[in-house]
Amino acid sequence: MLDFRGSPSSYLLKGKYTMGKITYATMSADDPALHQAYEEGLAAATGQIGQTHPLLINGEKRYTAETYTERSPIDSDLVVGVYSQASDDDVDDAVAAARAFQPEWEGTPWQERVAIIRRAADLMDEETPTLAGFLSLEIGKNRLEALGDVSEAVAFANYYCDRLEEAGGMETAMGAYGVGDTNHSVLRPWGVWAIISPFNFPMALVASPTSAALLTGNTVVLKPSNTGALGSLLLADIFSRAGLPAGALHVVTGGDEAGDRLAHHDHVDGVTFTGSYDVGMYLYRTVAAGRPKPVVCEMGGKNPAVVTASADLDLAAEGVMRAAFGLSGQKCSANSRVYVERPAYQEFVNLLADKTGEIQVGDPRRRDTFVGPVIDQEAVGRFRSAVEAVKEAGGEIISGGEVVTDGDLERGNFVQPTVVTAPEDTWIWKKELFVPFVAVTPVDSLDEGIDKANDTIFGLTAGVFAGTDGEVDRFFERIQAGVVYANRRAGSTTGAWPDIQPFGGWKGSGTSGAGSGGPWYMRSYVREQARTVIRE
Ligand code: SIN
Repeated sequence: MLDFRGSPSSYLLKGKYTMGKITYATMSADDPALHQAYEEGLAAATGQIGQTHPLLINGEKRYTAETYTERSPIDSDLVVGVYSQASDDDVDDAVAAARAFQPEWEGTPWQERVAIIRRAADLMDEETPTLAGFLSLEIGKNRLEALGDVSEAVAFANYYCDRLEEAGGMETAMGAYGVGDTNHSVLRPWGVWAIISPFNFPMALVASPTSAALLTGNTVVLKPSNTGALGSLLLADIFSRAGLPAGALHVVTGGDEAGDRLAHHDHVDGVTFTGSYDVGMYLYRTVAAGRPKPVVCEMGGKNPAVVTASADLDLAAEGVMRAAFGLSGQKCSANSRVYVERPAYQEFVNLLADKTGEIQVGDPRRRDTFVGPVIDQEAVGRFRSAVEAVKEAGGEIISGGEVVTDGDLERGNFVQPTVVTAPEDTWIWKKELFVPFVAVTPVDSLDEGIDKANDTIFGLTAGVFAGTDGEVDRFFERIQAGVVYANRRAGSTTGAWPDIQPFGGWKGSGTSGAGSGGPWYMRSYVREQARTVIRE
């Protein structure tokens, strides 16, 4: 059956450095060898930042006259890279090259495509410490989050290879009218695929759509977010060293105009966008205006948790704390709203405030840091506005609430992880903030908590903490979200992993209805052709 399903296998057991050791659910890692490897990788990455990077078009390294400079969110004195700014002509050239090579790539036996993607996964795995070092410098990821991002990229690539192998390729024999006919269902690529990726997971959220698109025979033009472009360039280099032909993958860096031109290009046949709701919906409405084409948008979240009076409150507070503040709240899956049954409310809030107060905020390269910087000063501005909105509405800052500028941190974008309560008509309950900021409020029942949890345009992830199976079942039946968790200390709403939790949103959080790292994801990248041959 060609549905890319397979028997669950462990993606936690492969890999030299990280898999089996680091996922987003890893609570802590005491392995000295792992820390030494990360530190060596970080030193290697530090020695290589600040370079000027070209566009990658058909194997050509194209340096443009116009460039932009990316600085580290840890320290604005650190230049991460100088990136080429793709013009309209550069985007057109990349699409033309991808289009020209696509038939050859599609004609390459799928087993060869699998072999290349597997080699790329092996290279990523071997180079994990240095790649993680780059991610800490570029995005401000703490070491476990940085290692996890690379580890997840490896897991995505291997997962899709496994699915294609288990499906035995892209062809299924169908029934027949009689002896004279043979019939097949053949899954075929759409053609040229545009991938527009976000800053927060420069490896994983590029490796996932890129691997799926390439494995299924599409060629790819990648436009990474301005911040986080280094991850895509490093990945493209890895794919190339793994033997991917130059015509199969192209990278254009630059501003929104380049992304807009690419997504709307006549010769692009499908688009994957990961990022904000506003941009995703704009692309969803406009990309296929001229002709039908798949537009896979993974958008934001305003992810809720509901805590019932029967819950283990320490576990609930830990799970919320980790999901609200991991990666400084800059995950689409971050937990930003918590509804607590009234009898448990005060104790839960006290526990959450205590745990939040204990968090180490600071330079993410340090071993003990959990919360590093937010990505830029715009995010710091959003944080300040949210804190102000709570105060103006007569709410309470329960923990945090300040921008952090102690010592060297003054040169970075650091804010305190923050817990608030505020009237529920305050905008902070509705708008995705992408900073470490969570709002809590009491509710009278599980059902009221679920109603409020569902009262959002989004539907990405959600969590429940409850002491009875009946409550968990009720929550799962009624909650409108693509990824749901019960009683998870490692993260109330975050930390999905390929092969374990397919990651995709409902409602305003996603358009495809199929989660990445899950059995249905690759289906978005192919279209079916029914083939009948008559032999009389
Ligand atoms: C994300 O893509 O924002 C994070 C995935 C996760 O935490 O599950």
